[in-house]
Amino acid sequence: MTTQKVLFKNIDTFKGVTPCSYEQYVKGGGYEGAKAAFKKTPHEVQQVIKDSNLRGRGGAGFPTGLKWSFVPMDNFKGQKYLICNCDEMEPGTFKDRALVYGDPHQLIEGMLIAAYALQMTKGFIFIRYEYKKGARILEEACAEAKKHGFLGKKLLGTDFEFELDVHLSAGRYICGEETALINSLEGKRANPRSKPPFPQIKGFLGQPTIVNNVETFCNMPHILAHGADWFKGLGLNGNAGTKIMGASGRVKNPGLWELPLGVPMRDILEKHAQGPSRGKAFKAVIPGGLSTPMMTPEQFDTPMDFDSIAKAGSRLGTAGLIVFDEGDCMVDSTANIMKFYARESCGFCTPCREGIPWILDIVRAIGAGNGEKDDMSILDDMSKHIMHTFCAFAPGAQGPFLSAITTFRSEFEAFIKSREAAAAGVN
Ligand SMILES: Cc1cc2nc3c(=O)[nH]c(=O)nc-3n(C[C@H](O)[C@H](O)[C@H](O)COP(=O)(O)O)c2cc1C
Ligand code: SF4
Repeated sequence: MTTQKVLFKNIDTFKGVTPCSYEQYVKGGGYEGAKAAFKKTPHEVQQVIKDSNLRGRGGAGFPTGLKWSFVPMDNFKGQKYLICNCDEMEPGTFKDRALVYGDPHQLIEGMLIAAYALQMTKGFIFIRYEYKKGARILEEACAEAKKHGFLGKKLLGTDFEFELDVHLSAGRYICGEETALINSLEGKRANPRSKPPFPQIKGFLGQPTIVNNVETFCNMPHILAHGADWFKGLGLNGNAGTKIMGASGRVKNPGLWELPLGVPMRDILEKHAQGPSRGKAFKAVIPGGLSTPMMTPEQFDTPMDFDSIAKAGSRLGTAGLIVFDEGDCMVDSTANIMKFYARESCGFCTPCREGIPWILDIVRAIGAGNGEKDDMSILDDMSKHIMHTFCAFAPGAQGPFLSAITTFRSEFEAFIKSREAAAAGVN
C-alpha cells in the first residue's frame, strides 16, 4: 500500500538524504502550519492537536494532546521548556535520522507550533551523539529560520519568542528515556528520574517541560495547515495519520516508507521490503525497534497500529521491523540482543545491572554448547525479575527475550540436550 506523502514529501530516502533547503521548504507550503497556528490562541492550537488524535511516535503511543494538557498554562509565569527527543539509539530504528537529515525545517516548524501552543520560550533538540552531521544540518536550518523570523523574538507579528538550541547526546541508549535525557541535558549522569513528578510539572531545571519525539513534532505543521479531520483521514481503521515504517535484517530491500497507520505488516514485508533476502522463509519479526516482543509469520496480517500490535502481544514501538529468517539461530540472535541491553544498562538498579548480564552469560553458554539442565528455568525466572526495575529499559529488554525463550524454546532445549547427549557419550 502506498500513501499520500506527508512527512516524506521533501525526502527521498532511496536517493540518499540531502537536506531540503529553506526556499524549497517554503515553496512546498512550509511554515504555513505555523502561520495558521499563530492566528489561533495557544489553547485553540492545543485543541487542534487533541482533536487530531495524534499519538506520540517515540514508542509508547501516548496521546500528544493529553500529554500537553498537564502543562500549567494561564497562571504560570515561570520558564517552561520544550525538548525534541532525537536520541534514536533503539536498534532497528532510523526514521528520525531521515526526518532530520532530509527536512530539518519540518521539525523546527513543528517545535515552533508546540512552543506557541504551550507558551514555552526555550527549546532543545537532543540529538544522538553519532548524528553529528544531523546536528550541523539542524544548526544551519535554525540560523536560516531565525533569519526569516521563525525563531527568535517577536515571531509572526506577535510578542512570542522562541529560542532553539541543538544539543548532542551523551551517547548512551538510556539518554533517550525522557527523564534520563533531562538529567543528561542538565549535565548530570543520565539516570532516569522517579515519576511522579512528571516532566510536564517538574522537568528540565525543575521547570515544566515537554519531551516529544522528532516524528511527533514533524506531524504538527501538517495538522495545523490541513486540520484535525484531514489528519484523522490519513490512517486506516480509525488510526490517525501516517507512520514512518522501516525494515532491516533478512529482507531484500531494507528501508523506510511512509504508510498509513494501520497498514498490515505483510504489506511492509512483502511489498515494500520485497520479501526474504536469501531465499529462506521468514521466521520472526521484532515489530517496533528492538524493545518489542517477537511476532511470527501467522501474525503477519496484523495491522501496524498501536492497539492491533498490542492485541497481538507485542508493541508498535517505533515501527522499525527487525526481520529474521529460517537460517537464523534464535539462541545466537537472543545472545546478540541481550549483549546490547547488558552494555547499555545505566546500572542504577540491581535486577537490570546484574540480571541482564547474567541472562547473557547463560544464553551464550547454551549457544556454545555448554548449557545446563536448569538453564531454561533460570531464564524463565530472570524474565520475571527484570520487570521489577526503576525504568522501562529492562522491561524493554524483556520483550524480545521472553518471546524468544517462549516461541523458540525448542531451539534452546535442543542445544542443551545435545550437550547432555555428548556428556553421556551418545552420538
Ligand atoms: C530506554 C529508553 C530509550 C528511549 N529512547 C527514545 C528515543 O531515542 N527517542 C524517543 O523519542 N523516545 C525514546 N524513548 C521514549 C521517551 O522516554 C519518551 O516517551 C518519548 O520521547 C516521548 O515522545 P512522544 O510522546 O512524542 O512519543 C525511550 C524510552 C526508553 C525507556
Ligand atoms: S532499569 Fe536499567 S536502565 Fe532503567 S534505571 Fe534500572 S539499571 Fe538503569
